[in-house]
Amino acid sequence: MRWGSASDILPAMGGDGAIRALLDWYALAGVDQAIGDAPRDRYREAAVAAAAKDEPAPAATPEPAPAAAAMTAREAPPSAPPPAAPPVLPALAPGDATWSAQEIAAACTSLDQLVAVVRAFEGCALKRTATNTVIGDGNPQARLMIVGEAPGAEEDRQGLPFVGPAGRLLDRMLAAIGLDRSAVYITNMLPWRPPGNRSPTAEELAICQPFLERQIELIQPRTLVLVGGIAAKALLNRREGITRLRGQWFPFATPRLEGTVQATATFHPAYLLRTPSAKREVWRDLLAIDEKIREAETAS
Ligand code: URA
Repeated sequence: MRWGSASDILPAMGGDGAIRALLDWYALAGVDQAIGDAPRDRYREAAVAAAAKDEPAPAATPEPAPAAAAMTAREAPPSAPPPAAPPVLPALAPGDATWSAQEIAAACTSLDQLVAVVRAFEGCALKRTATNTVIGDGNPQARLMIVGEAPGAEEDRQGLPFVGPAGRLLDRMLAAIGLDRSAVYITNMLPWRPPGNRSPTAEELAICQPFLERQIELIQPRTLVLVGGIAAKALLNRREGITRLRGQWFPFATPRLEGTVQATATFHPAYLLRTPSAKREVWRDLLAIDEKIREAETAS
């Protein structure tokens, strides 16, 4: 089917029909939620900002503080201490977003710095359609880290991972083994929502993976739980699907991680919402995760 533009469709229809057709057309294109009352022309804003670069700089306005002392990627409260010094960034190769993300991430020596640079990163087109940059939630000192796929609609609105229906089920899964968000750190492969909740592309995953790996290096969890096939295949660098990968343990390493992290995979809670019969396997996975956490605690 050829996708026409809105202006192809509208003249043929009138009144409510035209509005419905326009909304259908937006939904097909992945534009499925309103984020403001008035339209914003971001292309024009970018052009104006680029033109303004050539003009003398106005009096400096301080950037909002990164998540500073906050344990999460939530906005820092007004009374938060001053932000960590920004990392010293190497020169970037224009046009190579993956390489850039690697260099930028490697230069970060704290989670606050990483949060700030991910928020400022312009190398992934998903950022342009997202409302918020969604980085992490929970306790950065936690020994258990959970990695999902990408923010959905509710996560994009609130700027926090796993706060929609799948997130509520994830909370119940954690509660089943006596954990809550104060005992885990939760993040995603991608910090921006793919429009219309489509699957992330291999390129988007590759661009953003260095940020996630640096997050793992800075948090240094003992145990890593990858929820869903996208996170499991990307982080474990495997071709098998989640049905084969789940329930096994893999040593996860990066060049800058001290030692290895014990990583496992399980079904995504969004899949469980559609397929409740898979809860049996997930319960087994949760018990194995609980045992692994206890083993790690006894060993330390
Ligand atoms: N699904 C994910 O993988 N991550 C979220 O944050 C929400 C839904």
